[in-house]
Amino acid sequence: MHCVRKITDDYTWVGANDRRLAMFEGVYSVPYGVSYNSYLLNDEKTVLFDTVDKAVRQRLIENIKFSLGNRSLDYIIVQHVEPDHSVVIQELTLLYPELKIVCSEKTLGFLEQFFDFDVRSRAHIVKENDTLTTGAHELRFIMAPMVHWPEVMITYDSKDKILFSADAFGCFGALNGALFADEVNFAKDYMDETRRYYANIVGKYGPQVSSVLNKTSSLAIEMICPLHGFVWRKDINDIRSNYMLWSSYTPEEYGVLIAYASVYGNTENAAEILACKLRDQGLKTVMYDVSVTAASEIVSAAFKWSHMVLASTTYNAGIFVAMEAFLNDLTTHNIQNRTVAIIENGSWAATSGALIREKLEKCKNITILDANVSLKSSLKASQLTDIDALAEQIISSMPNAAARTAEDAAPGTANNIDPNTMFKLSYGLFVLTAKDGDKDNGCIINTTLQITSSPIRISIAVNKANYTHDMIMKTGAFNVSILSESVPFSVFEQFGFKSGKDTDKFEGCAYNERTENGIRYIPENTNGVISAKVSESFDYGTHTLFIADVTQSITLSGEKSVTYQYYFDNIKPKPQLPKNDIKGYTCKICGYIYEGEPLPEDFICPLCKHGAVDFEKNI
Ligand code: FEO
Repeated sequence: MHCVRKITDDYTWVGANDRRLAMFEGVYSVPYGVSYNSYLLNDEKTVLFDTVDKAVRQRLIENIKFSLGNRSLDYIIVQHVEPDHSVVIQELTLLYPELKIVCSEKTLGFLEQFFDFDVRSRAHIVKENDTLTTGAHELRFIMAPMVHWPEVMITYDSKDKILFSADAFGCFGALNGALFADEVNFAKDYMDETRRYYANIVGKYGPQVSSVLNKTSSLAIEMICPLHGFVWRKDINDIRSNYMLWSSYTPEEYGVLIAYASVYGNTENAAEILACKLRDQGLKTVMYDVSVTAASEIVSAAFKWSHMVLASTTYNAGIFVAMEAFLNDLTTHNIQNRTVAIIENGSWAATSGALIREKLEKCKNITILDANVSLKSSLKASQLTDIDALAEQIISSMPNAAARTAEDAAPGTANNIDPNTMFKLSYGLFVLTAKDGDKDNGCIINTTLQITSSPIRISIAVNKANYTHDMIMKTGAFNVSILSESVPFSVFEQFGFKSGKDTDKFEGCAYNERTENGIRYIPENTNGVISAKVSESFDYGTHTLFIADVTQSITLSGEKSVTYQYYFDNIKPKPQLPKNDIKGYTCKICGYIYEGEPLPEDFICPLCKHGAVDFEKNI
């Protein structure tokens, strides 16, 4: 019996789940099963996106037949030839003799390798950016080599704004009735399996994944349909952000992964003592016995954490077998940008430490701490100082260590502060206006806050680089126009991306409304304006915090206020990420590119005035 779910009016998920498979690809345990996703488009033409593994082919056939009704299947788009997505193709050609196979030339070659039927005579070959119009829908093909095989192609439907992403954005685990990521507690229940899928399936190909992220960054994407796991229709930026971290081999969290190989428990004992010392210092630690936990799980954890401790006994004059297998897997997956400490053990000739070092030295940007600990059979009291020294080196190598110990470290500059977390705050967005003599001026801020209600008092924090800041310092008065969700991007360009020192920010404005204090405000695309008089100001380095009494307020509309998140999701055009060959940094706020290396810590974006923390390195 068919088992399908609609994803849009025209698209149906026709895939299937397998909960009996023990090892995916013969390598990766899938204790929660796995889904094989296939999607059917019912337009003037009918189109299937990929097929499923042979274990669940019957369900696919039933689903397709049901979803087509009495129609035939016109096209199958082959995005990925790996047999868990292609094995049913030949059977479909028998069921639907007119079926055309849409694929790249490379894919065609692979299909001919896997199948014996005449693939070429049915092939409709496509290249980068070719399109296929199926009626109301236009499908655009984007090559994604090595995400996960060389022939991989992804497809964009510009009508429904769906990205069919092949293996990218996939996840281990059967779907259990839920098809959309927002139908489950994804962060709690599926994030680890998503990372494990990424690290093991495409972790080796970070640059290629980055390239696909860049290619698709300018597309308006409202849904992502991968070949495994959940369909994304909400929080698409969240999964993309994780892919940006993973593909650049950037740790998700500062903390220490301790992987140990211990035959009689003595190496494990040293590793645990170290873990306790690190925890005493407030560091996060996770521990894995490489003889017990599958390498795929530890590789996945290595993609998450910033630091690794590898503790291994010596075995047959080498690294213990399970540790060696894990290290081979880890280095094959191209792990980079990590700090590593080593503990070795050997009752008569400890060699494991040097051999582990040798393996890791082949990886890019791996810092191996020199305070390695060498045990002879077991840890003795006299060697506790070695463990202390190792713990101290690990702690010192944490990016926040300098700030923790340096008395003059500026608060808030520790590297363990992820600036992206600040974007999780539910800021609003406002046009802050001021007047000095005949000069009207304004800028965009996101820092208006009501402090007290009796009297009604607000605070604003304003970047000193803004001319409006200087005017408020001088005059002590300002207006805050509260932007609503209808605000177009042009308002941000007008007030946010140029300086009032040398331009008239109100040039060309059809309106000239002013509040009682004589200061202009923005009457359009706003839902209120607040006038205030400064009572106190506090200097916070780059910004001044103004405390002000409200002198007038006007409600302008019932529209919702725009939030920072809403602005990013709905108003700000997706920046065209720079081409790989442009070295430098791009402002995440306005897209300005700083060409140079490194980006100065005190750099201020000349367009939007945001600081270096809002820039990301071009890849
Ligand atoms: Fe599920 Fe690369 O395939």
